[in-house]
Amino acid sequence: MQNINNDILYCENISKSYSPKKDASLILKDVNLHFKPGSINLIYGKSGSGKSTLLNILAGLEHPTGGNVYFMGKNYSSMKDSKASKVRGENFGFIFQAYHLIPRSNIKENILCPTYINSKKYDKEYFEFLVNILGIKSLLKRHPFELSGGEQQRVAIARAMLLKPSIVFADEPTGNLDSENTQIITDLFCKLHKECNTTFIVVTHEENLIADCEQVIRIKDGEISFE
Ligand SMILES: Nc1ncnc2c1ncn2[C@@H]1O[C@H](COP(=O)(O)OP(=O)(O)OP(=O)(O)O)[C@@H](O)[C@H]1O
Ligand SMILES: [Mg+2]
Repeated sequence: MQNINNDILYCENISKSYSPKKDASLILKDVNLHFKPGSINLIYGKSGSGKSTLLNILAGLEHPTGGNVYFMGKNYSSMKDSKASKVRGENFGFIFQAYHLIPRSNIKENILCPTYINSKKYDKEYFEFLVNILGIKSLLKRHPFELSGGEQQRVAIARAMLLKPSIVFADEPTGNLDSENTQIITDLFCKLHKECNTTFIVVTHEENLIADCEQVIRIKDGEISFE
């Protein structure tokens, strides 16, 4: 299929089973999705419905059993792992429910982590912009254990955004937070989205991002529906 819609990412006929048996039930069945550059996209579904599986396949962290994922028109899921990993490092940012900060590194080092991994320089002005907009400038010398959950997640967002990725994948980014911090984080997503025009693909249980999003994807019984 040609990328006639100028999607930044799309997938065709994605299926997934974790069992090698031919008649094993599928966690994802024939999923087709399109993501526009600079859009916010939300993925909803019950626990165990396949949200993380779908996000990981879209991000190239897991292989689908069938089907393909295309990033900027290139078949990303058929690339060799080393090439896919390079594409991922250069173009994708990740945010997880459990923050995954490095305990022994201070906050500034945590945010700069993608520059070490990808041997890339970072834009110092943009770093300042990020720590200011995320309200973490005064925390840079602390260590993760000295921060609240909401603060740790804001650090994780700065780390995900540092190299100006074209897509940020977030798996339940507010899953460990109270309602006040959830609101702060979702407001920040909207602010960053407006300022940076990044594409966000977010697995969530929260409904308060819906007003600003381009696409709401629901997974039920392995199948996708839109609203
Ligand atoms: N590595 C794996 N091996 C076998 N089964 C798996 C594996 N990972 C996930 N599953 C199964 O696939 C299904 C979908 O899992 P997934 O983690 O995608 O759900 P989810 O919608 O993200 O759930 P939650 O809201 O609880 O995070 C579940 O039934 C899960 O048990
Ligand atoms: Mg999950």
